[in-house]
Amino acid sequence: MSTTWRLERYGSLPSTQSVLVERAMLGEPAGLVLFADTQTSGRGRAGRVWHSPRGNLYLSVLLRPGGQGRDAPQWSLLAGVALAEAAAPLARGQLSLKWPNDLLIDGAKCAGILAEMALTPIGDIDWIALGIGVNLVHAPKLGQRPTATIGDAEAPEDFGSRLLNCLSRWERRFATEGFEPVRSAWMSIGPCRGTVIALRDGPANAHYLGLAPDGALLAEVAGQRRAFYAGELLGVGEL
Ligand code: BTN
Repeated sequence: MSTTWRLERYGSLPSTQSVLVERAMLGEPAGLVLFADTQTSGRGRAGRVWHSPRGNLYLSVLLRPGGQGRDAPQWSLLAGVALAEAAAPLARGQLSLKWPNDLLIDGAKCAGILAEMALTPIGDIDWIALGIGVNLVHAPKLGQRPTATIGDAEAPEDFGSRLLNCLSRWERRFATEGFEPVRSAWMSIGPCRGTVIALRDGPANAHYLGLAPDGALLAEVAGQRRAFYAGELLGVGEL
């Protein structure tokens, strides 16, 4: 089973994500997709600004998958896998995922996902909002981080429709086979085992070990294996 999408397209919104979250909180059913040609207050992870010139993709998707709140990060990893799959036909270089769900091309960020959620009073997932931004023709600066376009240009609506198909396919796989195929697809384009990683608000020097069966990032820190459920990788480098 997968969500049926209801697409609303706008010339400009402050942020597809902020509007989607407001509507989720007012009880909007699953499947709403907000698509904007530009955003005036685009939001990135960790409170960063997401510059949103016309020509790139800006969309947010509302899911209400149910399940326990502790499994919510699995949906953000699933979105990363679907995004990488949708990007593959355009890629002029090596696509990879940086935990939890930045999409890189030859090491430069070309797309990002802002995953936000709310829980019910008993700790189940109430809603998940996946906000996805893709550099199709512009690669706005993002602090010190290298950025790039994916490769071949494409109209945002064409990329968006392929992305929604990929999301539906992964949603169906998740429903029938569980998280394992998502985990294995994510790891196949994630960092190589042993890569040195640094986590925001976490250890500055850890060795990536893979994803746990529940989606946590596994890393060796000072000789001990540790699991991380939230956060952001600051940098990766080969050993
Ligand atoms: C990141 O920091 O990597 C996440 C970027 C997410 C940007 C997208 S663009 C569509 C949606 N609306 C927003 O305001 N943010 C997300």
